[in-house]
Amino acid sequence: MIYSKIKGCGSYLPEKILTNSDLESTLDTTDEWITTRTGIKKRHIIGKDQFTSDLALEAAKIAIKDANLKPNDIDLIIVATTTPDKVFPSTACILQKKLGIIECPAFDIQAVCSGFIYALSVADKFIKSSSAKNVLVVGADAMSRITDYSDRSNAILWGDGSGAIILSSSDDEGILSTHIHAKGEYGELLHVPKKDKEGCRETIEMKGNQVFKMAVNTLDMIVDETLNLNNLAKEDIDWVVPHQANIRILEATAKKLNMSMDKVIVTIDHQGNTSAASIPLALDFGIEKNKIKPGHLILMEAFGGGFTWGSALIRI
Ligand code: COA
Repeated sequence: MIYSKIKGCGSYLPEKILTNSDLESTLDTTDEWITTRTGIKKRHIIGKDQFTSDLALEAAKIAIKDANLKPNDIDLIIVATTTPDKVFPSTACILQKKLGIIECPAFDIQAVCSGFIYALSVADKFIKSSSAKNVLVVGADAMSRITDYSDRSNAILWGDGSGAIILSSSDDEGILSTHIHAKGEYGELLHVPKKDKEGCRETIEMKGNQVFKMAVNTLDMIVDETLNLNNLAKEDIDWVVPHQANIRILEATAKKLNMSMDKVIVTIDHQGNTSAASIPLALDFGIEKNKIKPGHLILMEAFGGGFTWGSALIRI
C-alpha cells in the first residue's frame, strides 16, 4: 500500500508584530477583552514589500531542506491561500519560479481556513494514485491585506504567515484518511463582499457569533467521522493540530475529545488566525517544541469560510 508520509516541515512568520496594546491605541478594545474572548495576544503582519508567495517561499525552502530534497525533486506544488499575489498566475506558479523549479504541475486551492486540509487531501490522492512522489503542500496567507482595521471584531483576529510540508510516497504509514466538506448556503456569514464603491478595499465581514457556534458543532462531527472511519477511539490520538481560530473553539473540541488542552497544539496566542497557514504553522511549532514525535498519531481539523471544513488523520 502506498502512503503519503510527511518527510519535511517548515514555517515562517513575518517580522512585524501587532500586539493587543497596539490595537488598544487605535480601537475601542482592551487586551483583557481580546485575551479572554479569543486567546490572542499578538499576531505577525506581512511587510509592505512582501507578497504571499514570499511567505510561502521561506516556509517551502525550510521544508525542502528538512526532507533532504532539492527543489527540482518536487513533482507537484499545491498552495492553499485566500490572499494570492495576483488574480493570476497562481501563487503556486509564482512560488515555483522563486524556488527555481523548472517544471511540474502547480496550482492554488481556495478553501479559506480549511485550505490546508483541502490541499493535503488532494496531494494524498496524487500520491496514492502514483501521479506524484514528492509534493510540496503550502498554506500561506496575508490576512492583514483583507482586514478592516477599523472593525474591532475582525482586526483583533487575523495574522499573517506560512507553513509548508513535503509529502512523499512511502511504504510506511502516513496519512490514514482525509475528510473534506463544504456548504455554500452559509457563505455570507463569513465572506469578503464585492464592494462596488470605487477604490474601496475589499475586506472580511463576519457574523462572529454565528460562525463560532457553527464551528464548534461542525468540528464535533468531523472528529467523530474521522475516528469512526478509522475504527479508532479518542484515546488513540496523541495530538490535535487544529486550525487556530479562537482558543474557546479549541477548548470546546478538546472537551469533546475528553482530551486535556496539553494534547492540543496552541499557537493562536502569538500568531492569531493565519487562515490556510495556521495548521502547518502549528504542526511545525509542535515538532520544534519536541511535542510531536515520529510514530505519533495526529488529528488535524479546520473550519472556515464557505463554509468549508475538514480533517486529516496522520501517523507522523
Ligand atoms: N473589543 C471589545 N468589544 C468587542 C470587540 C473587541 N475587539 N469585538 C466585539 N466586541 C463587542 C461587540 O460589539 C458586542 O458588544 P454589544 O454586546 O454591546 O453589542 C460584544 O463584544 C459581544 O459581541 P459578540 O460578537 O457576541 O462577541 P463574541 O464573544 O462572539 O466574540 C468573536 C467575538 C469574533 C471573537 C467571536 O465571535 C469569534 O471568535 N467567532 C468566530 C470567529 C472565527 O473563528 N472566524 C473564523 C473562522 S475560521
